[in-house]
Amino acid sequence: MSLLKRLGTTQDLSGTEQKSPPTKDGKRNPDTTGGLGKQSQGTGATRDTEEESSGRSGELGALRRPTIGTQQQQQGTGTTQQKSDNFNELKSRIQNRLISELDPRMDLGNQEEVRRTVEETFTSVLEAESIVLTRVERMRLFEAISAEILGYGPIEPLLKDESVSEIMVNGPRQTYVERAGRLERTDVTFQDDDHVMRVIDRIVSPLGRRIDESSPMVDARLPDGSRINAVIPPISLVGPTLTIRKFAKDPLTSDDLVRFGTLTPEIVTFLKACVEGRLNIVVSGGTGSGKTTTLNVLSSFIPHDERIVTIENAAELQLHQDHVVTLESRPPNIEGRGEVSIQDLVVNSLRMRPDRVVVGECRAGETLDMLQAMNTGHDGSLTTVHSNGPRDTLSRLETMCLMAGYDLPIRAIREQIASAVDLILHQSRMKDGSRRVTYITEVQGMEGDVIVLQDVFTFEQTGQENGKVIGAIKPTGIRPKFVEVFESQSIYLPPNIFGTSYERMF
Ligand SMILES: Nc1ncnc2c1ncn2[C@@H]1O[C@H](COP(=O)(O)OP(=O)(O)OP(=O)(O)O)[C@@H](O)[C@H]1O
Ligand SMILES: [Mg+2]
Repeated sequence: MSLLKRLGTTQDLSGTEQKSPPTKDGKRNPDTTGGLGKQSQGTGATRDTEEESSGRSGELGALRRPTIGTQQQQQGTGTTQQKSDNFNELKSRIQNRLISELDPRMDLGNQEEVRRTVEETFTSVLEAESIVLTRVERMRLFEAISAEILGYGPIEPLLKDESVSEIMVNGPRQTYVERAGRLERTDVTFQDDDHVMRVIDRIVSPLGRRIDESSPMVDARLPDGSRINAVIPPISLVGPTLTIRKFAKDPLTSDDLVRFGTLTPEIVTFLKACVEGRLNIVVSGGTGSGKTTTLNVLSSFIPHDERIVTIENAAELQLHQDHVVTLESRPPNIEGRGEVSIQDLVVNSLRMRPDRVVVGECRAGETLDMLQAMNTGHDGSLTTVHSNGPRDTLSRLETMCLMAGYDLPIRAIREQIASAVDLILHQSRMKDGSRRVTYITEVQGMEGDVIVLQDVFTFEQTGQENGKVIGAIKPTGIRPKFVEVFESQSIYLPPNIFGTSYERMF
């Protein structure tokens, strides 16, 4: 992407003086300005010159051009909004001038080199404009400008902030984040819809994807693995929206989940035995309830000598075993061709001699193939499903099997489900933002037309304290039937894990 398109500076650049000398280090050469030269017509140069005599103090507010600010700003009311406007104004002025001095053909691939060049030019622009800033202000300004050039604009600090797990941009004026499981509004804003669009474009175009009015929704992944979804007008009425699920560099482990209260050490022991004992497990829950994270933890229990094939829409799982083949589905291209669906991948994976198939999420017809795989020798497979509870997981599975398009009788589908799925682990996102496993349920088989479920562990909420949910997941006292099979495989569980002597255990 060219520097100009990257920054959308067509109008911003108007009038910036073309005065930088040609240099080797990426600065603009007046003979080779190309498109930049043509765009440089207007009044900005005069404004820049006027600016030199304004604001020399360390206050950002003092650097504002009196002719541009709102009446309120001119009266110097000193509100936060005013400070933010002044900062944005200064930022766009310096940014415009800086861009006019950079070579538009600069290779943006070499980030280090570009950053150095930008920093040098930034310093010279501040000097040329005689702008004096404190060290903190200077750093903040530089970071904001370099985020526009090198990163993802206003959301760059949020991407770097490790306490943020999810970023939600709802048009240019509103950005929310999730921190420690809770949603919070931030003061991050964009200039306008186009600004958000440029950031979205910067994310999706290097991936060969596009987003425009004819295809206004896109799923993609940032180079660091973060999952993104963008929806733009006319589908989104609040302006372009962007949702980023940040990739955890160190994915949560079973120890973390125990620490967060999602699991207990006993349940970890139990689940480890279930994975080693090759049970087919469905992790279910609402959106953002931590299904993928739990699936990752369960997958980590797969023995290292087994061949694992993972299938996902956007590769989120991070397995530490050696023998892992990661497959990712692909949407159709512009001509509507070349789609590789999750279903295609499930079918194909069976020809790859997998010991285990792990499907990131079953959403549609692939469910039937997944169940068939589970029923035909690929036991020990794992997947996730959106649902509201274990019983609902079964109905979801049924509906998704129907989506495969075969005219199968419902009873046949139920039988498939009952014989394929051994265990449902259901989890929920609680009001306080914590994620809890709320049910661990055995699928026992069919009785008449009904699939029989038996809860093995359930979550009991005992109260609330300072907004925090108090409760624990406890055994129901029922020993699941599959434990006998475990014993034949030399997998032994402590006898009281299912709660007969519960009080002693916990
Ligand atoms: N047990 C947990 N405790 C606290 N936070 C968690 C837990 N599990 C996951 N999270 C956090 O919750 C967010 C969502 O997790 P995850 O992607 O696993 O959810 P999901 O159910 O797969 O979501 P989706 O429905 O969007 O696919 C992540 O930021 C993750 O770090
Ligand atoms: Mg998920």
